[in-house]
Amino acid sequence: MNDFIPFTNEGRGEKMKLVNGFDLMQYAKQKGYILPAFNTTDMEMTYAIAQGLSDAGLPGYIQISSNNLRLSNPKMIAELAADAVRSYDIPVALHLDHGKSFDHVKACLEAGFTSVMIDASHLAYEENIAEVRKAVEYCHFYGIPVEAELGALRGKEEDILHESDAKTDPELVEEFVRRSGCDLLAVSVGNVHGLSIQPDIDLPLLKQISEIAEVPLVLHGGSGIPAEMIRAVRQYGVLKINYGSDLRKEMIRSFGEAYEKDHNAHDVISLSLQAVENVRAKTAELVKMVNCQVSA
Ligand code: G3H
Ligand code: ZN
Repeated sequence: MNDFIPFTNEGRGEKMKLVNGFDLMQYAKQKGYILPAFNTTDMEMTYAIAQGLSDAGLPGYIQISSNNLRLSNPKMIAELAADAVRSYDIPVALHLDHGKSFDHVKACLEAGFTSVMIDASHLAYEENIAEVRKAVEYCHFYGIPVEAELGALRGKEEDILHESDAKTDPELVEEFVRRSGCDLLAVSVGNVHGLSIQPDIDLPLLKQISEIAEVPLVLHGGSGIPAEMIRAVRQYGVLKINYGSDLRKEMIRSFGEAYEKDHNAHDVISLSLQAVENVRAKTAELVKMVNCQVSA
């Protein structure tokens, strides 16, 4: 076997392709799974996430935000993700996270993404609805689900700091979902982005929203939410939980530890392979935890 492909899955046969977001959600509902959505930035994290999901034998999403697509482009990420899952037999969808514009949504769809979020939650209510409606009408032509957000999370989403903590107003949920046509609803119920603020999940609010919303709920800011709280939110319509910071920390850790030991550290390949193993292990740990297969 060509020894230049130990890392990629080229030449290892074809088991699974990236699956459609609607199919993944249907599969998870049938099996009673929660779907973690793991944020990638680059080739290494993309393969590590796929390997971790395969190690655990559980489904989920590889996702990338508009902000993180600055390092690559939708086509590159779609090709990497398609190769990363090809030799595994667990269903994985590729999702645009925090899609910043309709143009980004279109570009990702054309590249092969199988699920998208249009994040217009920073706009006024009516504008949020209009932006989501526009993305829905386009994406549904191609059979692709659209996630939207109602409310705003505090915390640091990549390098964007949000101070506002506008919890999702349950009075608006039914109308927002109906008029926007979204297929998943990201809610703000005390979850936060990043690791600098402690999440404080408002379970009664989440329960109230879950009784109103006709679509599955998404919890952003999964990093830092304790396992017992994850077990609690499972009963309130949450189908997708996003994890970014927990994986990014694992990616940086091997380089950070090496640099602390030796400021002349330069063995990029070994540190990169170690970083992949760190992310792979964290992915497997989290996907099992959200499916209550381990007590983390
Ligand atoms: O959209 C991405 C996630 O919400 C990331 O949140 O970094 O707190 O896990 P997190
Ligand atoms: Zn998020």
